[in-house]
Amino acid sequence: MTVSLEQLRRCHFAVDLGAARTRIYVKGAGLLVDQPSAAAVNTRTGALIAVGEFAEQMMGRTPDYIRVVRPIAGGTVVDIEMAQRMLRQLLGDKTRRALRRNLRLRAAACTPHDADPLAQRATTETLVGLGARKVELVDTLIAAAIGCGLPVERPEATMIMVCGAAATQVAVLSLGSIVTAERIPVGGEAVDHAIVQHLRHEHELILPSQSVRPLQLALSGNGLTAQGPAQTEIHGRDVATGLARSVRVDTAAVREAIQTPLTGVLDGIGKVLRACPPDLVADLADRGITMVGGSALLPGFDEMLREATGMPVHIAERPDICAAQGLGEMLEGRIEPLVLNPLAA
Ligand SMILES: Nc1ncnc2c1ncn2[C@@H]1O[C@H](COP(=O)(O)OP(=O)(O)OP(=O)(O)O)[C@@H](O)[C@H]1O
Ligand SMILES: [Mg+2]
Repeated sequence: MTVSLEQLRRCHFAVDLGAARTRIYVKGAGLLVDQPSAAAVNTRTGALIAVGEFAEQMMGRTPDYIRVVRPIAGGTVVDIEMAQRMLRQLLGDKTRRALRRNLRLRAAACTPHDADPLAQRATTETLVGLGARKVELVDTLIAAAIGCGLPVERPEATMIMVCGAAATQVAVLSLGSIVTAERIPVGGEAVDHAIVQHLRHEHELILPSQSVRPLQLALSGNGLTAQGPAQTEIHGRDVATGLARSVRVDTAAVREAIQTPLTGVLDGIGKVLRACPPDLVADLADRGITMVGGSALLPGFDEMLREATGMPVHIAERPDICAAQGLGEMLEGRIEPLVLNPLAA
């Protein structure tokens, strides 16, 4: 870990700025915000119309003077000012006032594993704009591992896979640090994109962005496995005529389309395992892989990993909020650092 637990314990709030969702943990109050990272702006006046859930619902349905923007893309803050405005709105006046009472407001944030200095700077700037005097950055992989209760501080290997919207990060952790890690730029968004492209090519249907999720749900029970319903009905717009049309889609074919992006993830896991020292790989054979992040819920994804790696695969209890919860645990001081004192034993 680059920052010490002591420094994190002094933070007052923590933010997980995700490409899909933003989560805010306030010390002593818990996880207060878990909303889509979206903001709707009136382009004539520059006024903010909505943030979070409301803004996401407006996506693709707005008149031309309202624009729905996503200030975070690919795991990085791309529009600092908009991210600040969104966070202010999401926190609400009451919480913001309470936070401002701290003379030296300190914030923590998690950043993707290989975030470059520019991306780290953007995250820091965003929180400084919210009034933080000091910002501590934590690797998402470590925050998520702590959030799902893995014994990261012990001298045994644990493997964590953070399946986000923009990317999938895989790491082997031991003694509170990352031994090997890989960030694969394939996540829930790439899976959604594969489904949209499939329907466009095979059925000449334009799928509204908001309909991808219902389709995934229709696949589920068993999405990537073969026991789901054979067909499901989808409504969209015809590519050529532009008229509304519905088609019956073969779920097996959709499953096939999803496989392509997921193969990249499997390659990444292989790479991490190959780079890992043999002693740690032996630990992993019993303990297996723990999946966190929203896309860990993609039906059948865990089964696919189990087949490909031959290792046990678990999904964390609340995979989507693990990273934010991990930050919270560190803020509240619930993590005991490892005391290396062999002489006392
Ligand atoms: N039940 C579900 N089934 C399939 N996919 C899901 C489910 N729930 C969420 N997702 C996917 O998970 C993704 C969001 O995950 P998460 O909230 O971890 O992302 P994030 O933290 O915002 O992204 P990142 O960490 O990559 O910046 C979305 O792409 C969404 O499509
Ligand atoms: Mg995330």
